[in-house]
Amino acid sequence: MKIFKSFNVLNKEINFNEIIGFVPTMGSLHDGHLSLIRSAKKKSKKVLVSIFINPTQFNEKKDFDKYPRNLKKDISILKRLKVNYLFLPSKREIYQKGINKKINILQNDKILCAKYRNGHFEGVLAVVNRFMENIKAKYIFFGEKDFQQIYLIKKYLQKKFSIKIICCRSVRNFNGLPLSSRNILLTKKNLKQSEEISKLLFEFKNKIIKNFININQIKLYKSKINRLCDKIEYFEIRNSKNMTKKINKTNFKIFIAYRQKKIRLIDNI
Ligand code: PAJ
Repeated sequence: MKIFKSFNVLNKEINFNEIIGFVPTMGSLHDGHLSLIRSAKKKSKKVLVSIFINPTQFNEKKDFDKYPRNLKKDISILKRLKVNYLFLPSKREIYQKGINKKINILQNDKILCAKYRNGHFEGVLAVVNRFMENIKAKYIFFGEKDFQQIYLIKKYLQKKFSIKIICCRSVRNFNGLPLSSRNILLTKKNLKQSEEISKLLFEFKNKIIKNFININQIKLYKSKINRLCDKIEYFEIRNSKNMTKKINKTNFKIFIAYRQKKIRLIDNI
């Protein structure tokens, strides 16, 4: 596996006339990331993974400081998967002076995580924009686990670049909780409670499909979930095509963000 730290060297070494699949990550790799890499391997001749803990997408410094870091283990996982290229840019490489244009999101997109994590998606769009501008891969892979992230990347960046965005399904643990680098920060008790929350979300989704939405049901599930975490940030049902609240039985998703102590978890079902 070849490791690059600059766009310059990466572009000299990788032949982008071949079909290259690119998987951007922030490391601490788990099976969710690996499923993206496996999809990339299937669709491409060679696979490039990046690991960069992007400071501009953390709206709380503490969250950035305690974000899990595990580079040695990540490198051995990537080698085992026979990933061809790893990109490990520095903060300076990504945010070179004068290069980064800020992408502001529209007021009506300031919902869900965009409402509660001020500046978060601007940070995500800045780094993904920089990647797309400088890495001429054929495909770029994102996970549905971060549904609003992929929705906004498609909305704000897709038209500017020829790279094809591929969306991969959420990978969950045996009890239905989506895998996340943050899960290892949970206590045993909080992990169990989060798994209970996932079960409730699936149950609620099935109820909506059968009987459609009833305001009392929303209240009931919200209060059940409330008892299993410290705080619900949002719990909303939205149209998965345009993220409005206009939904029907086939085009909706339940979105949730909640906190277990200081750990913030999200899911969409
Ligand atoms: P990170 O959280 O490391 O996730 C990297 C990619 O893995 C994202 O596309 C994310 O949606 C996907 N992913 C995470 N958990 C998953 C799961 N359980 N199932 C399927 N896919 C999963 O998302 C980011 O990094 C950053 O915002 C990034 C896009 C790299 C920009 O900095």
